[in-house]
Order: sequence, then structure tokens, then C-alpha cells
Amino acid sequence: MKIGVLNGPNLNLLGSREPGIYGTATLADLESRCRARASELGAEALCAQFNGEGQLIDQLHAWRGSLCGLVVNAGGYTHTSVALRDAVAAMDCRVVEVHLSNVHAREAFRHHSYLSAVAAGVICGLGPFGYVAALEFLVAAARSTTA
Ligand code: DQA
Repeated sequence: MKIGVLNGPNLNLLGSREPGIYGTATLADLESRCRARASELGAEALCAQFNGEGQLIDQLHAWRGSLCGLVVNAGGYTHTSVALRDAVAAMDCRVVEVHLSNVHAREAFRHHSYLSAVAAGVICGLGPFGYVAALEFLVAAARSTTA
């Protein structure tokens, strides 16, 4: 059972980027936490991060047909990208949108997401735990449909 964990622009800078907002865990920390929890659950987390919109879309296309679930933090593209939303809508698995910060407690331009309407759910403001919670949901949901 494979779960994709896709991070978008600037998330490669986690740990040093605005730590008051995003915390001190690095992207490597976050990805290894996802891999560890997935393996405890008998699943596998496939992790990827890209700064480019097209690269994110290409990764989604490459994952089509092979995932049981997708955790996606599209960073700033969340609030701007119709193309990324279309690629997420074209996925053949459940999708959870995740944000480390509580986007609703921040600037107004972060309150709208192009992805939320095509996701099964949205988690924001829980830091790295949000990824783990999303992963747990996706594994449980995939199991309950295949059982
Ligand atoms: C973010 C929130 C976005 O508004 C921002 O552009 C990011 C990170 C988050 O994880 O809190 O890059 O997605």
C-alpha cells in the first residue's frame, strides 16, 4: 500500500524558513516521520518535493494508478494554481491537503485553496503531525474500501 507525500515550493527550506511559523523540523525530518509511521502501519510513504509547478504536476501524473492515497502540501501554489488542482482532481486515489501552519489565521490570500474542493479533507495548523494524521486516515480509508 503506497501513500504519496508531495511537498511544494519552499518546503525544502523547512527548519530554517520562518521557524516561528513553520517550526524547526526539516523536510528530511518530516519525510522520515512519514516513512516510519507508514511502515508501522504496513504501508509505504513515497516522498517528493519540488519547487516548480510543472514538476509537481509531472510527479502526480507519474503516481497515477499506483497510490492508495496522497498527502499534498502545495505551499504557495495552493492559493494560485488551477493546473495543480486539475492534476489533483485527476488522481485516482483519496487526497488529503495539508498545511503546517493554520492558513486561516494568516493573511487573507492564504484563506482560499484551489485544492480543497478536490480533496477528501484538509488539515492545517498541526505542524508535521498533520502529515502523520493524514497518512493514518488514508491507510485506514484504503483498508476499509479494500476489506
Ligand atoms: C503552507 C501555507 C502556504 O500558505 C505557504 O505558502 C506555504 C506553506 C503551510 O504548510 O503552512 O508555503 O502550505
